[in-house]
Amino acid sequence: MHIHRLEKIWLTFGLAMLFVFLGILGISAFAMGAQPPSPHRHMIDPTRVQETAPFDAPGIKQVADGEYEAVMIAYAFGYSPNKMEVPAGSTVHFTITSPDVIHGFEIPGTNVNLMVIPGEVSQISHKFTKPGEYLILCNEYCGTGHEYMNTVIVVK
Ligand code: CUA
Repeated sequence: MHIHRLEKIWLTFGLAMLFVFLGILGISAFAMGAQPPSPHRHMIDPTRVQETAPFDAPGIKQVADGEYEAVMIAYAFGYSPNKMEVPAGSTVHFTITSPDVIHGFEIPGTNVNLMVIPGEVSQISHKFTKPGEYLILCNEYCGTGHEYMNTVIVVK
């Protein structure tokens, strides 16, 4: 009798904790779902990338002393522009989006590694100190031409 009552108490306690736990999960899931997207997330219409500034004119241009802005499009299967050149010591601010599917944007040997989501404007900066040819690769499987999807940034 004594043991049974203890078991009942523990069972009730256990169930109560389970409901509390589920309640917290439910509330946090609801709170997260209700949150507006992060203010840093900038979206454009993926079907109109080529007509939307700055992607209507992909390319690289100097924006300050030792600083460049590279506006790029990752598409199936390549990058626009397909070749860039900067002097050694330059910081390049990449702005990139995709008009079709999810692509990757990785420069091996650097900390540049992005997921490029259709219509989402992604930004990352990198300072290229050493001269060389830096390969930009797609590391997200995006279709039959995935493995040929790359471009290069030449640092002189
Ligand atoms: Cu683009 Cu893989």
